[in-house]
Amino acid sequence: MIYIAPSILAANYAALGEDVEKVPNADMLHVDIMDGHFVPNLSFGPDVTKAVNGVTDQFLDMHLMIEEPEQWFETYANAGGDRMIFHVEATNDHVAAAKQCRELGVQAGFAIKPGTPIEPYLDDLEHFEEVLVMSVEPGFGGQKFMPEVLSKVFTLRDHIRAAGLSTVIGIDGGIANSTIAQAAEAGVDAFVAGSAVFGADNPAEAVDTLRRMAKEAAGVA
Ligand code: DX5
Ligand code: ZN
Repeated sequence: MIYIAPSILAANYAALGEDVEKVPNADMLHVDIMDGHFVPNLSFGPDVTKAVNGVTDQFLDMHLMIEEPEQWFETYANAGGDRMIFHVEATNDHVAAAKQCRELGVQAGFAIKPGTPIEPYLDDLEHFEEVLVMSVEPGFGGQKFMPEVLSKVFTLRDHIRAAGLSTVIGIDGGIANSTIAQAAEAGVDAFVAGSAVFGADNPAEAVDTLRRMAKEAAGVA
């Protein structure tokens, strides 16, 4: 299954509701939460998340680029987040964090920075609905795609298949028409795209084009 997840980090915050309504054909929305500590930038928080949730029925993937993510799961679950994707670099016990998400009735995912190896986490994938492979250093939209992280996607794909799991492999950063095919070929299922969607004249068309290119490259209908 191929999923296209527009990142509202690249939307117009003065007209956020209107921008969200421009991508009714998205598979989910990607909500980037930055705390100015885990990453050197601030974005928005629970109130904006709640406002977005109020104008759409879309599934909200919460990308928590924050320290002590466990302290915030409940707040973001109450704000309408459907899946908490926290960074493995920000927690000491990613499996306990995943269990905490489940107890709150939301899905769990983990994100991994470009420089962090995936091997230490491979035996714990059963606890997560998604692994989000960062293809830029987290913190800012509009950066250049790092193809070297695709080796982690290959490893994840082989491991997930061999274990018979349904964990979704996501990729985040620099996804555009020029980069999506290589990620899809490597085995990515869920593609986050910020500037490539909200920077386009027609965001819905951009979503359709990205989905078509990903499907073609992955060889799926
Ligand atoms: C970066 C964020 C991304 C960002 C991607 O830290 O996690 O989700 O929105 O933006 P683009 O698609 O512009 O690289
Ligand atoms: Zn993100």
